[in-house]
Amino acid sequence: MTETRKRLGILISGRGSNMKAIVEACESGELPATVERVISNRQDAPGIDWARDRGLECRVLPHRDFESREAHDRAVVGDLKEAGIQWVCLAGYMRLLSPWFVETFPQRILNIHPSLLPAFPGLNAQRQAWDYGVGWTGCTVHLVDAELDHGPIVGQQAVPVKPCASVEELQGMILEQEHRLYVRALRRLLSQEWRVEGRRIVFR
Ligand code: GAR
Repeated sequence: MTETRKRLGILISGRGSNMKAIVEACESGELPATVERVISNRQDAPGIDWARDRGLECRVLPHRDFESREAHDRAVVGDLKEAGIQWVCLAGYMRLLSPWFVETFPQRILNIHPSLLPAFPGLNAQRQAWDYGVGWTGCTVHLVDAELDHGPIVGQQAVPVKPCASVEELQGMILEQEHRLYVRALRRLLSQEWRVEGRRIVFR
């Protein structure tokens, strides 16, 4: 199969374990893509040190240095465009994108969220699920639109809550699945034909 490798940009705010999963899948050939930029909105994000050590092109663009969300987004997008980025993966990037950002990469921005959306959007989704007392939670990969944790769903993985003795254990179980799901979902989008119909992604 002759696949053209897509140029990925990854945005992070913290640990960056989902970023690592994507980088490793690109390096192993599991994903038909290369990571050409990692951008963090936080100077102290541990993930950025890992990415630098790995020899990836990294930028830190602290959102506090900009007067508005859109001004920050324009700097991020400017950098992504300069690197010829075709797909943007949010990997623990804790910022809502402006509508302008979303329109700049139509249907080419992905996010991972640690719940079965539309349940428990927003911060601390695993804690929200734990406190609610659900029997199952999990993770979701979705295309990004201008609403928080909202766009069409690419893939989901359920995780049972019952075997977990604490919310920390649940977070760990979900995170393990996140790494697999993100790579699986991205691989499907990059290597198959698909279209968006309403809220549904239809694969051919
Ligand atoms: C992950 O659990 C991810 O799903 C979550 O942040 C964590 C980042 O971990 N994202 C969100 O909650 C987005 N709404 P990581 O930095 O190790 O990938």
